Amino acid sequence: MNPAKRRTVIAGNWKMNFTPDEARAFIREVKPLVAGKDKCDIVFCAPYVTIASAQDEAKGSKISIGAENVHFAEKGAYTGEVSAKMLTACGVKYVIIGHSERRQYFGETDETVNARTKAALAAGMTVILCLGEVKEQRLSGITKEVVSMQTKLDLAGVSAEEMKRVIIAYEPVWAIGTGLTATPEQADETCGQIREVLAELYGTEVAESTTIQYGGSMNEKNAAELLAKPNVDGGLIGGASLVAEKFKAIVDAAQ
Ligand code: PGA
Repeated sequence: MNPAKRRTVIAGNWKMNFTPDEARAFIREVKPLVAGKDKCDIVFCAPYVTIASAQDEAKGSKISIGAENVHFAEKGAYTGEVSAKMLTACGVKYVIIGHSERRQYFGETDETVNARTKAALAAGMTVILCLGEVKEQRLSGITKEVVSMQTKLDLAGVSAEEMKRVIIAYEPVWAIGTGLTATPEQADETCGQIREVLAELYGTEVAESTTIQYGGSMNEKNAAELLAKPNVDGGLIGGASLVAEKFKAIVDAAQ
């Protein structure tokens, strides 16, 4: 973390978990645990149908409720999709885009990720843009090239001004939901490489002020070590964001 230069953001990604009632109960439980923890922003990204109940329960707290995806078109014949305008109309500010599960199971490409990112930004939302290498790429020593290419393609056409509303989540695919975590050194190195690409694209001021999270089996045990690294500005947390005590411990590590 480098709080002097950029916000630390601890975000949960609930994925396909929690009914509206379960989401409400979870927020009720976690709310007092993270009260007053002002050194980081706290977000839970929720399935569309649970957003309203989670928001309702989060009222008056510092917890924001985000979405897990958004479509790139303003409206039209896209069965099953949700637009940025619909999300903002529901008071949703944050949205995850490009998660590796979307890329892996739902055919998302850098092109669609870029289109979704631009649509969300145009609607005034804050994007949590996910990218990261798969295991074979890490083993072949091309992680830097992979994240650099993703960063450039996913942010094509995004202005320096809009970058104020972009958070990048570096998520090595081999670490997501596997219990394998990047070492703090690996996380710091790759987040640093992404920052170098941002400097190339937008200059050092934007690069230094952009929040770059680490995600991939971040938990209550490894969070402090990961967040101690200067280039790791928070976390995008899956499994541990479903357990209030674990999530609290990660927020504590960010204080
Ligand atoms: P995980 O998920 O913490 O369960 O590995 C992270 C993510 O997918 O964002």
